Amino acid sequence: MTLNPFRQHPPGLATCFAVEMWERFSYYGMRALLIYYLTQHFLFSDREGYLLYGAYTALVYMMPVIGGVIADRWLGARQAVQLGAILLVLGHFGMVFEGPAASPATNGEGVVRDALYLNGFFLSLALIITGVGFLKTNISNLVGALYPPHDRRRDAGFTLFYMGINLGAALAPLLCGWLGQTYGWGYGFGLAGIGMLFGLLVFLRGQRHFRGLCESPARTRRGLVGAYLAAPALVAVVWLALHYQQAVGQLLGGAGLLAAGALLVLAFRYCTPDERRGLLTCGALILVTIVFWAFYEQVGSSLNLFADRSVDRVVFGVEIPAASLQALPAIFVILFAPLISQLWLGLSAAGREPGTRGKFGLAIGLLSSAFLLLALGIALEGGDGRIALAWLVLNFALLSAGELCLSPVSLSMVGRLSPLRYCGFMMGVLFLAISAGNFTAGLIAGLTSQGAGDAASIDGYATVYLQLGLLAAGTTAALLLPSIYRRLRPAAAPAQTPEGTP
Ligand code: PHE
Repeated sequence: MTLNPFRQHPPGLATCFAVEMWERFSYYGMRALLIYYLTQHFLFSDREGYLLYGAYTALVYMMPVIGGVIADRWLGARQAVQLGAILLVLGHFGMVFEGPAASPATNGEGVVRDALYLNGFFLSLALIITGVGFLKTNISNLVGALYPPHDRRRDAGFTLFYMGINLGAALAPLLCGWLGQTYGWGYGFGLAGIGMLFGLLVFLRGQRHFRGLCESPARTRRGLVGAYLAAPALVAVVWLALHYQQAVGQLLGGAGLLAAGALLVLAFRYCTPDERRGLLTCGALILVTIVFWAFYEQVGSSLNLFADRSVDRVVFGVEIPAASLQALPAIFVILFAPLISQLWLGLSAAGREPGTRGKFGLAIGLLSSAFLLLALGIALEGGDGRIALAWLVLNFALLSAGELCLSPVSLSMVGRLSPLRYCGFMMGVLFLAISAGNFTAGLIAGLTSQGAGDAASIDGYATVYLQLGLLAAGTTAALLLPSIYRRLRPAAAPAQTPEGTP
């Protein structure tokens, strides 16, 4: 008997696990510090900072759509992961060069920032965004390709892989967040870069496990060179987009309309009636995920600054750096994942496992309780302007339980509800939705600060979180009421939801 969970799996799994763990380590380590860096080093106002943060995270999840297509057509997944890892190492190490901190202008109007370092910072962000775009979906594809289609170890493999994601996401804020907020930004960002360097080295050592997997059939030397040249061009476009954050919103809107139009054309012209129902249901549920991420992604933005300003973080006489608390959601995901999967198994044995819509309703219901309880915590605050840490921990716990009810379900829903030939397209649409959610999250976070130049007061947070809680409660009701109504109807009209449909 061995305790090594990888022993029963193809050897490539341990490599994918480690690479994705380090990639998420660097991503979440840097992200834990980002809003502080924007507001305290570059002196952006809360609202400006959130907008840039929202545009950054939105681009991070938009880029895998492009990275996925380039990998499928020209690069193959292995090369794409390698290229992504190199871009990520460059980006994270680029963040180490802070330059002089911004200062208020002497005439009292505006802020003076060093243009060279600000543009260098945007370049680092652009490298990271493009790197994630090449790495994130392709490493998941490699995991999938390690197993024959009906291998029974497949789900277990993905579960391990998801643990890797959250292990990286849990460790990084503890270490990078603490280093960055205690010793200086560059130390925190530097450690994130070292993490990604490990990721790259692990991949280079282990890549023999992936030869022949997910290779593009059209791969030619010219295509390969073209794809490598496309990367710097993409970095340049993203760098530019970061300067026009509002335009990222418009781009998302445009892409969303195009995707919706394409989906309708596919559904009504190229699908059988059964396929059409699945595709349209999938599209509608993807819209729900936008709401989820827009609310959930307060974690790294407004809740992060809230933790710094308005939460009493002293535990046993030691003050925990606020950025380190960003580890909590990932820790809760690791703790709750087995419980939630047991819950589904138990419910399914009793014939009561909710469909996708039910699970999404539950997820948004958990968000609602997370924000309503936090608003309550703020209302009960004793007068020193800080609430007890337990309220924030509770908030993060409920958000993470919600994440587990929605995020993995949304990924598997795509394959289940859409015809096989459109799966790639629908996965792209899902990532576009995650991206739109992240952008909207930045706009929502901006509502916590009253005026453009203000840092939010505790009341500003309370108002927004109360509203989010109520809106989420309304969304939950809209999602769950039809099923509850159907259950309560007299037995004459039996529940007719076929298995597996929401
Ligand atoms: N914690 C997850 C991750 O970093 C969040 C996520 C879910 C991102 C689904 C993209 C898609 O991987």
